[in-house]
Amino acid sequence: MRFAVLILFACCALTARTLADDTKQYKTPAPMGTAEAFVDPGNKTSPATPTTPTAKPTTKPTTKPTTTPAPQPTPAANLTIGNYNLTVNKKVCLMAQMELQIRLETPKANGTFIVQPSQTKPSGECLETKANLTLSFSQGFITFIFHKKVPNNTAYADTVTVKLDYPFSKTGPNNYFATNNSLNLFAARIGYCYSCKKETVYIGNGLYLDITKDQMQAFNISNGEFGKPDFCPADQPDYRVAIAVGITLLVLIVIVLIVYLLGRRRRTAGYQSL
Ligand SMILES: *[C@@H]1O[C@H](CO)[C@@H](O)[C@H](O)[C@H]1NC(C)=O
Ligand SMILES: *[C@@H]1O[C@H](CO)[C@@H](O)[C@H](O)[C@H]1NC(C)=O
Ligand SMILES: *[C@@H]1O[C@H](CO)[C@@H](O)[C@H](O)[C@H]1NC(C)=O
Repeated sequence: MRFAVLILFACCALTARTLADDTKQYKTPAPMGTAEAFVDPGNKTSPATPTTPTAKPTTKPTTKPTTTPAPQPTPAANLTIGNYNLTVNKKVCLMAQMELQIRLETPKANGTFIVQPSQTKPSGECLETKANLTLSFSQGFITFIFHKKVPNNTAYADTVTVKLDYPFSKTGPNNYFATNNSLNLFAARIGYCYSCKKETVYIGNGLYLDITKDQMQAFNISNGEFGKPDFCPADQPDYRVAIAVGITLLVLIVIVLIVYLLGRRRRTAGYQSL
């Protein structure tokens, strides 16, 4: 009997640990900061170092004027997590932490533009049931509009706008704009933080927004910290594994019990026969 109890205990401990790991995963403490003075701890590419090739002294003195291509903005090589917070009256009212990439996919041109947190400035406003966050960089901006629906206990974003001046191809246009105002993004309970590892939003005109490692909260932020996470469907912990393990152990316990009881009956029967 003691053995069965032990197995049961081990089963509970195992299940609890699995679930704890699931929730722990995205609980990285978000560094808080104001919109003006935010720092980006994850940024490896320093803005001070230009990525243009260094001009090496050439041995050839006869430098004929080469046809230099038009200066193109060098895209960032790596996705970097940005912390984009809005502060109103010294109170953080909107927090967003994510990696962002704008992707163009059309028959004429394909390409990606990685948003550089170190060169991006958040702005916007927080109202009672509406908030907007604009991330501005030298090539354009991305705007999100959030809503708070108290009857549904939900906060979500319905509008994303992207404007980008960037030459994805040599022949195509350099100016891209798209807006989608019928989205249902980043839905979380009020006071909770939306959390998602990876998602793609289609904005329009062949423009996609790839959002990775994101945590967002637009309303009811207390102490400048993210609330408990509400995971996107893709990230919701899979309880089926835990349930399957539990059932298997239960069956094992029943078998052990039956064997034990049968053994005891045989033993007592044996004593009686003496
Ligand atoms: C862009 O990608 C799409 C799908 O991946 C493809 O059909 C299209 O031909 C590509 N366009 C260019 C210019 O490479
Ligand atoms: C977003 O907020 C700014 C204030 O920072 C405001 O001027 C602008 O109208 C807002 N935009 C939308 C679409 O609500
Ligand atoms: C959110 O904040 C509002 C106003 O500050 C408050 O009335 C409401 O109870 C809060 N809701 C939750 C779910 O915390």
